[in-house]
Amino acid sequence: MPQTVLVTGGAGFIGSHTCVELLDHGHDVVVVDDHSNSSPHALDAVQKLAGRPLAGAHRVDLRDRAALDSVFAAHDVDAVIHFAAKKAVGESMRIPLDYFDVNIGGTTALLCAMHEHGVRRLVFSSSCSIYGDTATVPLGEDEPAGPTNPYARSKHICEQLLGDACRRYPELSVIALRYFNPIGAHPSGMIGEDPTGVPNNVLPYMAQVAVGRLDELAVFGDDYPTPDGTCVRDYVHVVDVADGHRVAVDHLDDEAGLRVLNLGTGTGASVLELVARFSAAVGRPIPYRIADRRAGDVPILVADPSRVAAAWGWRTTRDLADMCADAWKFQRSHPHGYRSA
Ligand code: UFG
Repeated sequence: MPQTVLVTGGAGFIGSHTCVELLDHGHDVVVVDDHSNSSPHALDAVQKLAGRPLAGAHRVDLRDRAALDSVFAAHDVDAVIHFAAKKAVGESMRIPLDYFDVNIGGTTALLCAMHEHGVRRLVFSSSCSIYGDTATVPLGEDEPAGPTNPYARSKHICEQLLGDACRRYPELSVIALRYFNPIGAHPSGMIGEDPTGVPNNVLPYMAQVAVGRLDELAVFGDDYPTPDGTCVRDYVHVVDVADGHRVAVDHLDDEAGLRVLNLGTGTGASVLELVARFSAAVGRPIPYRIADRRAGDVPILVADPSRVAAAWGWRTTRDLADMCADAWKFQRSHPHGYRSA
């Protein structure tokens, strides 16, 4: 079992939950995060929750090769989980070059540092958005990629360059996890999603409406070819996603090369269904209005989760009600995010 795991973006939403899983399962964890979209307080909560300290926490932008090299020099890293990236579809349409710079440049710099320091195991945070505008439901991993926005394209390019690196360096073992839409929070309510600025994603936006920080949710489009006209996504509990990463680390040595696996539930929910479920968790209706479609969105993305189930026996264990209840527990106890603590 890889002992020391370096987690890039470890203070972020999925990263922080994954750090807890890793610490709970006996790994030593080193975090690298530039805190551009995360709070250092998340790491205090992670350590409190896990009941033991991180092996290191470094404020570093991955593109700063000298700083990244010094992190690898300071720790005996056995495996890396790479989350650090920009992740908003709409924003990526406005500032595509930033997405290429941070997401592709960061991944390249990380691979170079790993190569230099002899680290050959990597779990990469990929995305279902790679599949793009497809009529296929559910989506298996062999479905052709068709990114419709620069965010998705950056993830697809990273997968391709990881594949090329694995072909050149046969000792590399890389698992790209394409997760669908992670939402929710740790059931303790101690860690959750705390985006910087106005949230881009639907659940954190709704949660901020629920605590009065925002007025109403804009539902982007109700004229999609879906049962209620709003987009359908496969929402997956962030603790399930974190558990998937921890299990992936344990399977890195099964084989070399690049493996691609979906992490999803196999069940879709529309934006309006999600609004109804979250309203039920909060105990009152979340105000919303129907707005124009958001550029770059696709009507439906639902996972076929059977490959990862067959490979590792891994499947999700939490449903949409759990996701909404846990997200609300975090937001209610942290109305202003980690700054509330
Ligand atoms: N939506 C709204 N109003 C909002 C925000 C979103 O109606 O204020 C709608 C979107 O149009 C979409 C659905 O809610 O139909 C989900 O949107 P998100 O922005 O929450 O998530 P995406 O489906 O765009 O997925 C993106 C990335 C995923 C990533 C996910 C969460 O493609 O890889 O964000 O970070 F997992």
